[in-house]
Amino acid sequence: MSEKAGSSKTKLLPGDALQEQTFKRLSRLSDLSMDLSSGLDRDELLRRMIESAREALHADEAYFMLLDPDTFELVPAASAGTRRKRPMRVTCPERRTSLAVAGEFGFAPSPRISDEPEPPLDPEGILLRNAFTGRQRLMFTRGMRDPMFTGVPFRSAILLPLATTTQSVGLMVVANISHDKPFTVTDMEEATIFANLAAMAVEHQKLVRERESRIREMEKLNLLAKRFSTVQTLEGLIGLSFEYLSQIIPHELGVVSLFTHDEEMRYFVSPRPLSPGSLQNLTDHLQDISAGLHQKPVKTVRCQQIFLPGREALPMPRVFRTRIQSFLTVPLTVQGQNIGLINLSATRCNAFNRDHLRAFTTLSNLLSTAVENVKIRLYLERRIEEISVLFEISQSITSTLVLDEVLDSIVNFSMEMMHALRCELRLVDQTGNFLETRASRGLSKSFLSATPIRVGEGLLGSVVQNKLPISVVDVRKDPRTKYLSLTKRERLAGLLAVPILQRNVPIGVITVYTSKPRDFSQNEIDLLSTFASQASVAIENARLYAKMKDQYLSMVAALAAAIETKDAYTHGHSKNVMEYAVKIAREFDLSDEEIETIRYAGLLHDIGKIGIKDVILTKQEALTPEERQELRNHPKYGAFIMEQVDFLKDIAPLTLYHHERYDGTGYPLGLRADAIPLGARILAVADTYDSMIADRPYRKAFPYDHVMREMKKVSGSQLDPEIVDIFLTIIKREHQQTGS
Ligand SMILES: [Fe+2]
Repeated sequence: MSEKAGSSKTKLLPGDALQEQTFKRLSRLSDLSMDLSSGLDRDELLRRMIESAREALHADEAYFMLLDPDTFELVPAASAGTRRKRPMRVTCPERRTSLAVAGEFGFAPSPRISDEPEPPLDPEGILLRNAFTGRQRLMFTRGMRDPMFTGVPFRSAILLPLATTTQSVGLMVVANISHDKPFTVTDMEEATIFANLAAMAVEHQKLVRERESRIREMEKLNLLAKRFSTVQTLEGLIGLSFEYLSQIIPHELGVVSLFTHDEEMRYFVSPRPLSPGSLQNLTDHLQDISAGLHQKPVKTVRCQQIFLPGREALPMPRVFRTRIQSFLTVPLTVQGQNIGLINLSATRCNAFNRDHLRAFTTLSNLLSTAVENVKIRLYLERRIEEISVLFEISQSITSTLVLDEVLDSIVNFSMEMMHALRCELRLVDQTGNFLETRASRGLSKSFLSATPIRVGEGLLGSVVQNKLPISVVDVRKDPRTKYLSLTKRERLAGLLAVPILQRNVPIGVITVYTSKPRDFSQNEIDLLSTFASQASVAIENARLYAKMKDQYLSMVAALAAAIETKDAYTHGHSKNVMEYAVKIAREFDLSDEEIETIRYAGLLHDIGKIGIKDVILTKQEALTPEERQELRNHPKYGAFIMEQVDFLKDIAPLTLYHHERYDGTGYPLGLRADAIPLGARILAVADTYDSMIADRPYRKAFPYDHVMREMKKVSGSQLDPEIVDIFLTIIKREHQQTGS
């Protein structure tokens, strides 16, 4: 309806016309609210609204300008009426809250912001900007003679902000250009209804879009989280994260920094390889952020590159030329601890907005947890490997019970574990004051003998006293080093010394040296300390075993002495037999344990005589057949006694058969040749020899030559000829040496 028709009707029939006008207004609004709820496309909805508003207010033209939240510019959205050139972009700098200047963490100031000149605005643009930023409804008339608005094409206009509960999303302009009719207050009120409906439509659509994009984002994140759980390496996690990020936030370069102790590991993610110099240039801005996040001073920054080929991105040389203009950085945190940071860099100015920050932060949370999980898993795997190596080693060092062998293998394994070429093991001596070198490798004898160390003195002494490990990068520069010139001559630099503790009592120290300065990591210190506790068990076992053997031997000696008190003429005989038997046994390929068995059997072979009547044992005359038979029972009695004692059981067969003869005419079973145990055959040779060579109460010892002849005579009949040969060779050698 034209304005002319409308006004003539008002004059003719005021009551009816008013009613009709009210009806039209209501039906327009009703149509619009139906459009609003019908899910119409936003642009179409705004087009219908602006058309409707223009008609309702009988204006020449009407249009919407909407705010672009990223650039903070008003841009045309829908218009009705006069076709003319209108402002295309109205920047609103005074209300611009660009992320780049927001001064909040996560964004670097973009150097171009202040330098970039704003495009000049025409008078209409200035009017629109003032109306929008003033957030006030504005009635413009020609009467406003502000020189700023000279040149505005409106004769009269209403400018209304599209206000939602929280913000202004745009501006509605209703204007007359070709005629002077001013707008009334009623017009303003009616226009406000349209403006509010439009604001609702814009807001509603924004929310719908946001919701949709969040849902898409969540779906992608969900997928990412699922893929994260299958990834075993940090590089894999970072690669996946950037695969996702490149879909939602355009950027050219990504960096992930992970902190461990005093080290920072940087992963650069780019489509192409970068030169080290370029990496430095591109990430200078990260230094300060990284230092701020890292609670300890960073000793070393190590870098690794991850390529994501197939991504469409600027060629890297162009990235260097154009420089990084924007970057987005957020910390990676796990339970309030900063474990690193993640960064995106772009060559565009203001490349990142709030939505990017939100999505980026969500990703960083997900990545933090995944990184921590992988780190824990890697740590556990490494520990399991270390523990299994330690287990193997501990099995190996406990496989021998000879203390010196145990100490040697502790030194060898320490060097192997620490990749060092020199190691020494010192044990606290019997006085408890000195550390005595008990095993070493790679160190000169002169160094070891010239460096006595007291407990509590120097580096090693304090390790023992304080029961704590010490690592030194370069001992030549450490004031605690005791023998500085010897240390320098020995070319020692890095040192790691760990105490050996037995039930928290220090018993020694393991020290590994390197020839170049070396900073042993906490992990290495822990590893050698754990090994030292295994070593401690092995040392204790070996010492206990040696002690037990001593006690065993003294007990056996006491038993042997008991026999000799019964049978006075055999005084010293058992000990002699033991010595001869061991000498022979060493000529055979026998184990240490077998030799030990023969040793004790030598001492105890006649223990069965305890069960023989004293009259028989001490009888000087020839024995009666019954008495001889009784005496012949002593091997059986002896074996019976041995079998009762667990650790003497092995000796029993040797005792039982020591009176068997090689030709099978001996007793108790008449075994012959190899059927007689080797140990028993050896005992027989030693026994026979000693009974001839030693003085007896009833006769003097036979002379050497006579004994040798007699031995040869019984070789092959009474005694094993091979053993006799071996034994006589030993005796001859000794006889020549001593001349006796
Ligand atoms: Fe005997």
